[in-house]
Amino acid sequence: MAHLPLKMIDLMRLGPVIPVIVIDDARQAVSLAKALVEGGVRVLEVTLRTPAALDAIRAIASHVGEAIVGVGTISRPSDFTEAAAAGARFGVSPGLTPELIEGSRASQLPLLPGVMTPSEVIAARAAGFAEVKLFPSGQAGGIGMLKALGGPFPDVTFCPTGGVTQESAPDFLALPNVACVGGSWLTPKDLVAKNDWRRITELAREAAALGRRI
Ligand code: 3PG
Repeated sequence: MAHLPLKMIDLMRLGPVIPVIVIDDARQAVSLAKALVEGGVRVLEVTLRTPAALDAIRAIASHVGEAIVGVGTISRPSDFTEAAAAGARFGVSPGLTPELIEGSRASQLPLLPGVMTPSEVIAARAAGFAEVKLFPSGQAGGIGMLKALGGPFPDVTFCPTGGVTQESAPDFLALPNVACVGGSWLTPKDLVAKNDWRRITELAREAAALGRRI
C-alpha cells in the first residue's frame, strides 16, 4: 500500500519516546512491534545493526498496520534504498554527510540526522533539516547542551538519544526545543530474548505516558 510522505516533526509529535530497536531474530519483529503499539508507542526505529534488521522492517511494515516503522543507524546512501524497499517510512542516522543528504532526498524518506556540535546543527539546518537527533546525547552534554543550543538555534527541534532513560526522559522532554527522545530501554535484550511482550507493553505504556512541553 502506498503511503503519503511523512514529515519528521509530525512523527516526533506522535509520541514522547522513539524506541531504538536492535533485533537479532526477524521472527520476533511482529510480536515486538505489536507489544509496543499496544502500549501506545507507534513510531519504531529498527536499527541496521543486525543482519535481521531489513527483514524485521519488512515484517512490521506488512503486518503491524498501526506501527510506523523507520530505519535507524543509517550510515550509507544505499541504506535508504534498501530500507525504503523493505517498507521503512523514515530514517535516523548517527551523523550527516553530503552523501546521506543525497540518499535521503533520492529515497524521499524523511531523515532525522545526528548532530553533536553547533557546526553540525548549522550544516544540518542548511541542508533543510530543522529536526535533528542530539547523538550521543550523554557524551554531547545532554540537558546542558540542549539548553545552550536553544540560544543560537531557536528554530531547531531535537530528539536527544543515547543514555536517555525512563527516569531522565522527563527532564529532556521539559525543554522547549525537545519534541521527543530516543532510547533502547523499551526493548531490553533480556526481555526480547524471553519473548516477554507483556513487560515490553508495560514499558511502552510508561514511556507513552511521559509528558512533554512541545
Ligand atoms: C544507541 O546508540 O543504541 C541509541 O542511541 C540508544 O542508546 P541507549 O541504549 O543509550 O538508549
